[in-house]
Amino acid sequence: MSKVINQKLAAYRWQIKTLLHLVLLCPLLYCILAVSNAWWGGDPVQAIIHYLANSALNILLVTLCLAPLSRKFKLPGLLAFRRLIGLYVFVYALLHLAAYLVIDLGLDWQLFWQENLQRPYIWLGMVAFLVLLAMSITSVKVLQQKLGRRWLQLHGFIYPITLLVLVHFWWSLKSGWLEPVLYLALVIGLISLRKLQVQRWLGSFSK
Ligand code: HEM
Repeated sequence: MSKVINQKLAAYRWQIKTLLHLVLLCPLLYCILAVSNAWWGGDPVQAIIHYLANSALNILLVTLCLAPLSRKFKLPGLLAFRRLIGLYVFVYALLHLAAYLVIDLGLDWQLFWQENLQRPYIWLGMVAFLVLLAMSITSVKVLQQKLGRRWLQLHGFIYPITLLVLVHFWWSLKSGWLEPVLYLALVIGLISLRKLQVQRWLGSFSK
C-alpha cells in the first residue's frame, strides 16, 4: 500500500506542489479578505500581526509532523514536500515581522529599539527569524550538497527554534497560557518521536 502511495506522490509531485501552494496561500488570502471587509474591526493591526504569527507557527508544526509521519507510514515521498512547506513558515514569519514593523510601528526605528527594551520577547522572535532566514537561503539543493554536515547541523536547529518561538509566543501574551502550553505539549511529543535524530544532531557538534 505504502509503495503505491509513494509512487503516486512521485508521479503527481508537481500537481501536489501546486495544490500545496494554493492551500498555503489561503491564510494570506483570508487575512486580506478580513482586512478589506473589516471582519477584524476598524483597527485590525494587532489581529493581522497575531494571525500571521499563528499561521507561521501552525505551518512550522506541520513541517515537524512530516518526518514522523513518513517514518510511521513508510512514506519517504512525503519528505519531497518539506522544503516547500518550510519556506511558507519563513514567508508568514516575514509577513508577521513586516506587519509589526510597517503597520504597527510605521517604520519608526527609534520606537523599534524602545519596544525591544520594553518587550524582550521580541529579541527571541528576531533570533528565530534569523535562523529561519538562514535555513530558507540554504534550502536549495546545491547549498545542501555543498554544506554537507554543516547543512544538517543548521537545519537541526528547527527543534530549538520551535521551542524559542513558543517562549516568544507565551511571553508576548498579556494574559492566559493555555494555548502556548498546548502547543508546547504537541512540540515535545513531536520532538520525542525524533529522539534519536535529535541525539545524533546534538552529537554532531562534538565531532
Ligand atoms: C524579527 C522577528 C519577530 C518580531 C519582531 C516579532 C514580533 C512580535 C510581536 C510584537 C508580537 C506580539 C504582538 C502583540 O501582542 O502586541 C509577537 C507575537 C507572536 N509572534 Fe512574533 N515576532 C518575530 C518573529 C516571530 C517568528 C519567527 C514567529 C514564528 C515562526 C513568531 C510567532 C509569534 C507568535 C505565535 C506570536 C503570538 C501571536 C498571538 O498572540 O496570537 N514571531 N511577535
